[in-house]
Amino acid sequence: MKKQFPIEAFGNLQTPFYYYDMDILTETLNSIVEEANKYNYYVHYAVKANANPRILSAISRAKFGADCVSGGEILAALEAGFPEEKIVFAGVGKADWEIELGLDKNISCFNVESIPELKIIDQIAAAKGKIAKVAIRINPEVDAHTHSHITTGTREDKFGINFEQIDQVINTLDSISSVKLTGIHFHIGSQITEMESFATLSIKAVEIERYLTQRRVFLENINFGGGLGIDYKSPDENPLPDFKAWFEIFRKNFPTRPGRKIHFEPGRSLVGQCGSLISKVLYVKEGSFKSFAILDAGFTDLIRPTLYGAGHKIENLSSDEVQDIYDVVGPVCESSDCFARAVKLNKVHRGDYLALRSAGAYGESMAMQYNCRSLPKSYFSDTIQNLKI
Ligand code: LLP
Repeated sequence: MKKQFPIEAFGNLQTPFYYYDMDILTETLNSIVEEANKYNYYVHYAVKANANPRILSAISRAKFGADCVSGGEILAALEAGFPEEKIVFAGVGKADWEIELGLDKNISCFNVESIPELKIIDQIAAAKGKIAKVAIRINPEVDAHTHSHITTGTREDKFGINFEQIDQVINTLDSISSVKLTGIHFHIGSQITEMESFATLSIKAVEIERYLTQRRVFLENINFGGGLGIDYKSPDENPLPDFKAWFEIFRKNFPTRPGRKIHFEPGRSLVGQCGSLISKVLYVKEGSFKSFAILDAGFTDLIRPTLYGAGHKIENLSSDEVQDIYDVVGPVCESSDCFARAVKLNKVHRGDYLALRSAGAYGESMAMQYNCRSLPKSYFSDTIQNLKI
């Protein structure tokens, strides 16, 4: 099945731009809400995946919480209407001003990633006469079997506190008075497609909670982070991630208990499939060895193929001629500015619109201005027809 894009409405718009299908976003949000409600799970959207104000406000209107990793994200989340009591703040390097901001805005939880950070949060909270609510991010040493750049839960990674140090954490907590421990937090990686990794995580979490209970530390919140992968190869066949299977794994392996809340922080799985990067072909260069389709979008607009070798399905929206083989590249002065090698596309001409699919997550939010390029704009399925350019 080929997705229909409103090409007639693209006519006057400067490419490249992000196009968001708001129906897919709504369907995705409805689907996760339905599955999460079955078990009373709490869902915080990982803002880093896409902080476009319209996307953020659609997600906040659907009553999700927000998982933030910087002061800027906290401000963006508040601006979009996420209530402060549903905002959590993670990250290995929280600056003092960001901790102050979190305290001033009364966010619900700091996910603490080291003992020195715990002490600084205590000092800053004490100076303000406040109590900071914290969860300890534990590195569970679970391999997520995903790209090494987006694995976060192994010994090699900078994230979280090793379980061996948990007694040190408890002793530190006993010695400080402006911090209240409310839970534990995990996040093992991103674009995880092997559900086994989540099963291993939930089994580890049971052991960790058991140990903490023995030490008379009782938890109100367990946060399992995000990480659920999406289908980059077949976005039309599988537009919705398998939230049902994801939550069932935790339901099966991690018991619910009255008074203890279970949280998740999906990013990619909520917004990945609703977005496409739309680009125009500038030139078709027929070399002696291969043909290049040279686009006006580059890695400045979508860095994932360059940074992680990620594959985004590419479609020629303007042609249904017989397919040919192309390297699809951008205009940036780097050989790594390449979206795909040797892909089959309906015959490409100058001026054709190409869609790079499944680009709603970590696309626009990772765009940059290298080569003094402009940041890509964004347009939305529900308003694009009414635009007056
Ligand atoms: N929670 C924490 C603490 C995280 O660090 C992340 C993502 C998430 C939740 C959301 O994970 P998700 O559900 O989106 O997998 N730029 C990379 C992905 C980096 C993910 C960073 N952390 C990419 O384009 O693949």
